[in-house]
Amino acid sequence: MNQKILIIGSSGQIGTELVLKLRQIYGNENVIASDIRKANYEVMESGPFELLDVMNKDDIYEVVEKYNIKQVYLMAAMLSAIAERNPKKAWDLNMNSLFNILDLAKDKVIDRIFWPSSIAVFGPDTPKEETPQNTIIKPITVYGISKLAGENWCAYYHDKYGVDVRSVRYPGIISYKTTPGGGTTDYAVEIFYEAIRRKSYASFLTKNTTLPMMYMDDAIDATIKLMQADNTGEYIAYNIAALSFSPKELAVAIQKYIPEFEMNYKPDTRQEIADSWPKSIDDSKANNDWDWKAKIDLDQLVKSMLQGLHYLK
Ligand code: SER
Repeated sequence: MNQKILIIGSSGQIGTELVLKLRQIYGNENVIASDIRKANYEVMESGPFELLDVMNKDDIYEVVEKYNIKQVYLMAAMLSAIAERNPKKAWDLNMNSLFNILDLAKDKVIDRIFWPSSIAVFGPDTPKEETPQNTIIKPITVYGISKLAGENWCAYYHDKYGVDVRSVRYPGIISYKTTPGGGTTDYAVEIFYEAIRRKSYASFLTKNTTLPMMYMDDAIDATIKLMQADNTGEYIAYNIAALSFSPKELAVAIQKYIPEFEMNYKPDTRQEIADSWPKSIDDSKANNDWDWKAKIDLDQLVKSMLQGLHYLK
């Protein structure tokens, strides 16, 4: 394949595993990792890596030319909790990075873009159970506002300039290779480190705060499946779903393997964000259009996390 793929944000939670999976599928040399900071060992060792600031259009252009990049996965973003502390910076990063990549496709330099949206586009007025694909979408966080605006801009570039851009609305993603940075669903990753290390964890969300979640393998599968699907001729930021659970339910699932594990609850400012998001997601549109279905249930997720973190064999 001389049509190469660029991952921007390859040192992040999803970017890291996306690079590794895409390299398995398309070959190490065809998948270029890039980030403003170095990536994990596996990413650095297995193929090309470029230090790249997504805000710098000229530098992006240089890398795209150098490798003859045709597809870009734009995984750099400021997540919900951190964005609330830096609203303007989050807006700048989340929007300008998107424009930089959309413009490359508008100018026909690249052919296809993956840009992640999030369940954060939904707000308190959205139906909470089995949230439909099309519904009331009025986010109350900076992150959600930037994702909703991004969805609208993707649709605009698609319709006006014929840009092939594809999106899913990720739920909270759980994985062990790289930790998430500054999201509201991060408790569901932190809990595993603390359960192993200290046998106790203080959750920053209350015990019954149910949120949509997904194991990394399913998230990667959805992402690549959508990028490989036939072009539907319209831009849709697809709802995707796997599991829904609360901190209490996750704690119980972990106690099956670590019986002495104790859970406490100390909600902080992230509670308000979580309260504005859905509890579960209807992903039947993704299911119909490109045959998407999550595979990993809560017990498999817990087991894989504890194995990945070397607690279980
Ligand atoms: N996991 C993300 C966050 O909590 C949701 O997109 O910000």
